[in-house]
Amino acid sequence: MPRGRKYDTPSEQSLSYQLKSFFRLWPYLWPKDKPGYKLRTLIAFILTVAGQFILVGAPFFLGRSVDAVKDAEGITHILSSAGLFIVALILGYGGLRFVSVLISEAREYLFTPVGQFAQRSVATATFAHLHKLSLRYHLEKRTGGLSRVIERGIRSIDFLFRFLLFNIGPTLLQLAIAGVAFWVAYSWQFALIAIATVVLYIWFTVVTTEWRLKFRRDMNKQDTEANAKAIDSLINYETVKYFSAENFETSRYDGAMAGYQKAAIKSRTSLATVNIGQSFLMNAGLIAMMLLAAQFIFDGKMTIGAMTTITLVMMQVYRPLNILGFAYREIKQALTDMEKMFALLDLEPEVKDRAGAAPIGQVKGAVSFQNVNFHYEPDRPILKNVSFDIAPGETVAVVGPTGAGKSTLSRILFRFYDIAAGSVLVDGQDIRDMTQDSLRQVIGIVPQDTVLFNDTIGYNISYAKPGATQSEIEAVARDAQIHDFIAALPDGYDTKVGERGLKLSGGEKQRVAIARALLKDPSILILDEATSALDSVTENSIQEALEAAARNRTSLVIAHRLSTIISADKIIALKDGEVEEIGTHAGLLAKEGLYARLWEQQQDD
Ligand SMILES: Nc1ncnc2c1ncn2[C@@H]1O[C@H](COP(=O)(O)OP(=O)(O)OP(=O)(O)O)[C@@H](O)[C@H]1O
Ligand SMILES: [Mg+2]
Repeated sequence: MPRGRKYDTPSEQSLSYQLKSFFRLWPYLWPKDKPGYKLRTLIAFILTVAGQFILVGAPFFLGRSVDAVKDAEGITHILSSAGLFIVALILGYGGLRFVSVLISEAREYLFTPVGQFAQRSVATATFAHLHKLSLRYHLEKRTGGLSRVIERGIRSIDFLFRFLLFNIGPTLLQLAIAGVAFWVAYSWQFALIAIATVVLYIWFTVVTTEWRLKFRRDMNKQDTEANAKAIDSLINYETVKYFSAENFETSRYDGAMAGYQKAAIKSRTSLATVNIGQSFLMNAGLIAMMLLAAQFIFDGKMTIGAMTTITLVMMQVYRPLNILGFAYREIKQALTDMEKMFALLDLEPEVKDRAGAAPIGQVKGAVSFQNVNFHYEPDRPILKNVSFDIAPGETVAVVGPTGAGKSTLSRILFRFYDIAAGSVLVDGQDIRDMTQDSLRQVIGIVPQDTVLFNDTIGYNISYAKPGATQSEIEAVARDAQIHDFIAALPDGYDTKVGERGLKLSGGEKQRVAIARALLKDPSILILDEATSALDSVTENSIQEALEAAARNRTSLVIAHRLSTIISADKIIALKDGEVEEIGTHAGLLAKEGLYARLWEQQQDD
C-alpha cells in the first residue's frame, strides 16, 4: 500500500454514496433532544408545501379576472358594485403572491437557526475528530487542505438546505400541483406538455452539466493546488527569503493559477450550450401550450383567462429552473464536499484506546521498554529490540548520533504511534491498556523543536495548566530563567509570540517550553535537547532548575552535550535504533565503547 493511502478521502463517489452523506444530515435537522428545532423544521416544511399551493393558485384568480373583464357588461367603473368581483379577483392574485413571499420569509426565519445549528454541530464534530486523529495523519496532510475541507463541508450544508430543500424540491412540487390543476381545470394535454417539457429540461440540464463538470472539477483541483502552494509558501516566508526564491515561488503560484484560468475559461464558454438548449426547450414547451390553448379557445373548450393562467403558472415554474444547471452542479459539488467532510469524520484514529482501557491515575513513574520494535514506514525499521528500565524518580539519559531514534522514544512513550512488537510499560502496566488521555497527562515534555501558539507568552506557558494563576506562571518562568526577559518586555506576559512562536529566539522559545513543562508538573518528564539552543551560561543556570525538577520525578533526558548528563543515574547509548550500551558515566567511560568515543570527541572540541 503506498504511503498515506489509507487516509485518502474519496473524491468521486457514486450518487448513492453521496445521498447517504446527505441523509447523515437528518439527525441535525431533526435533533434528538431539541424539540424546539424539530418543531421549527416541521413548520418550515409545512409552510414550504403550503407556499407551493398558493403560488399555483394565484394565477387562477388572475385568469378568472381576465374572463370577468372580457364578459363584463355595463361596468363603467371598476369600483362600482358590479366591478367589485373583479377587484376581489385581482386583489386575490396580488394578495396570494404577497402571502407566498411572507410564507417563504417566515420559513427562512424558522429554519435559519436549525441550519446554523446543523452547520455548527458538524463543524465542531469534525474539528474535534481531527484532533483525535494520530500524528501520522497530521504529518501527511496539508493543514490548509484540511481546513478547506471543513470550510467547504459547512458551506455545502447551507447550500443543500437552501437549494435542495427550499428551491428545487419545492419547484418540482409546484410542477406536480400545476399538472394536476391543469388536468382538473382544463385538459390532460396541458399537464402532459408541462410535465414533459420540464422532465426533458431537467434531463438536458443534467446531461450537459455533467459534461461540463469535468472542466469544473479541473478548476477546483487547480484552485486547491494554487491555494496550498500559496499557504505553504507564505508559511515558509523566511526560507523563501534565505534562498531569494520569491520569483520561483511566484512563478509556481502563477503556474497553478494559469491552470485554473484555463479550466475556468472552458467552464464558462461551455455554459452557452446549456443556456441555449434550456431556453429552446422552455420556449418550445410554452409555444406548444399556447397553440393548444388557442385551438381549445376556438373549440369553445377554454377561455382567454385560462390561457393567461397557464402562461403565468408556467413562467413561475420555469423561473427557478433557470438556475437548475448551476444548482445541479453546486448540489453535486456540495454533496461531494459534504461527503469529504463526513469521510474525515469516518477516519479511524490510528492509535485508539483499547476497549476497556482505564485511566492510569497517579503514577510512581516507572518506565520500561521491553524488546520494542518500531517503524514509521514498514520498509524501514527505526527501533530494534530496544529494552531498558527506569525506576521511579530516576534520571536516565539517552545519547547517540543524530537519527538514532532518541526522539522516537518519546513519541512512543506518549503513544503517538503504536509499536510493532514488544511493550512499553508505565508503572508495570502496558500503555496500550490505559487511555491515551490519562497517559499523556502524567508525562511532560520539552520537545526538541518548540512550536508555540500564536498568542501571548502567558497563554503559551499556562497552556500546560489552564487556569494557572499569574504567580504560578511567574514561578515556573523564573525556574526556566525567562521571567526577567519577559518582565523587561513592554507588554510583559501579554507579548504576542507570532505564528508558531517565530517572534521569539530559539533559546527564548525553548525556555518558554521548559516553563510550560514545569508548570504541568508531570510524574514523568522528558527533556529532548531541552537546552540545545542556549548559551552555556544560561544553560548552566537552567541546569539547576532542571535537575531540581528531575529530582522528585522520573526523567528521560535526551542530550547531545554530554556534560549535562554526567550525573544521570543511567545512560543509554543508542545507535541506529539499537541500545548499544547502558551504564553510568564512569562505567561507560571504562567500557571504552560508543559513549566513551562520543565523550572523547566532545572533550577535544
Ligand atoms: N514521521 C516520520 N516518518 C518517517 N520517518 C521518520 C519520522 N520521524 C522520524 N523519522 C525517522 O526516524 C529516525 C529517528 O528519528 P528521531 O527523531 O528519533 O531521531 P533522533 O535520534 O531524535 O535524532 P536527532 O538527534 O537528530 O534529534 C530518523 O532517521 C528519521 O528520519
Ligand atoms: Mg531528536
